[in-house]
Amino acid sequence: MSEQSISRDQIAEAVAALRRGECIGLPTETVYGLAADARNPAAVRRVFALKGRPADHPLIVHLPSPQYLSEFARDIPDAAWRLAEAYWPGPLTMVLKRAQHVLLEVTGGQDTIALRIPAHPLALAVLSAFAGGLAAPSANRFGRISPTRAAHVRSEFAEEVPIVLDGGDCAVGIESTIVDLSHGVARILRPGMLTAERLGLSAAADPSDKQAPRVPGALEKHYAPRTPLYLCSRDGLSAKLEDVQVLAIGELPAGVSGIALPRDPQRYARGFYAALRELDARGAHALQAELPPNESAWEAITDRLQRAAAGSSAA
Ligand code: TXA
Ligand code: MG
Repeated sequence: MSEQSISRDQIAEAVAALRRGECIGLPTETVYGLAADARNPAAVRRVFALKGRPADHPLIVHLPSPQYLSEFARDIPDAAWRLAEAYWPGPLTMVLKRAQHVLLEVTGGQDTIALRIPAHPLALAVLSAFAGGLAAPSANRFGRISPTRAAHVRSEFAEEVPIVLDGGDCAVGIESTIVDLSHGVARILRPGMLTAERLGLSAAADPSDKQAPRVPGALEKHYAPRTPLYLCSRDGLSAKLEDVQVLAIGELPAGVSGIALPRDPQRYARGFYAALRELDARGAHALQAELPPNESAWEAITDRLQRAAAGSSAA
């Protein structure tokens, strides 16, 4: 089933399921989400149960249009309206003070809420037909590789999530940039392909900052394959080691087996999680990934690689 073949009936069926409190697989431009009615506590609890996610890790609520901002947030600063105007729909999530009625299940008990409008025609069609907020974390089990294709979601949840709308491959491929606007100075909590530079903000927060809101994506180990993953310079990609699969940039070095993703960071990001899944499925002893250049356009990719590799101790 391709994006083009999604019918009005399927959207209506998805919306009816959401209204009944069910979770559905929903494509966005970043990664696929596991979506549920943000105002239904049982539906939100089901998202946590399906993912195996700790209850104190808050969810992003997806909105049909900026008008809904004031339904979920309060004391919205001008900067938030400006960012919404400039970048929504798009891969930007804003953390704001939450409106009073917002479920604590969604915010993990915090006084703030993360909100975004995704730039995917199917997500927007579902959101506007639903006419409300959808809480949607990435549609993967907690800590594992994020899904960028409908097939990834189906393999992760099978019959536990019977409705997965197929919106094709995600165009961005990496989770949205998260900007905290709840405490005066805007700052980046999670880097994404929309860079701090483009947003006109300072770079990502220091993870040791104890004042910072909790961001599970900022847990050290995340987005991880089952096979141990090691990061290395291009020279370190090993042709000698047997049973190692390599994720290279540009082209694979001679004699090395694995996948090469494009040198352009946007195109690399688009293929990243699918490549990581494929390498993980090859049954290798270990994976090696080539470290990207130390440039802002690669920051979000390097962040995901480091978290995917965290916890893989030296072989
Ligand atoms: O691109 C994306 O953002 C995707 C798609 C599906 O929209 N969603 C996504 O959701 O990445 P998830 O749950 O995998 O990651 C949400 C991140 C978590 O790191 C969470 O801690 C952070 O958003 N977050 C949510 N609410 C927050 C809040 N009130 N304060 C700080 N961080 C928050
Ligand atoms: Mg996630």
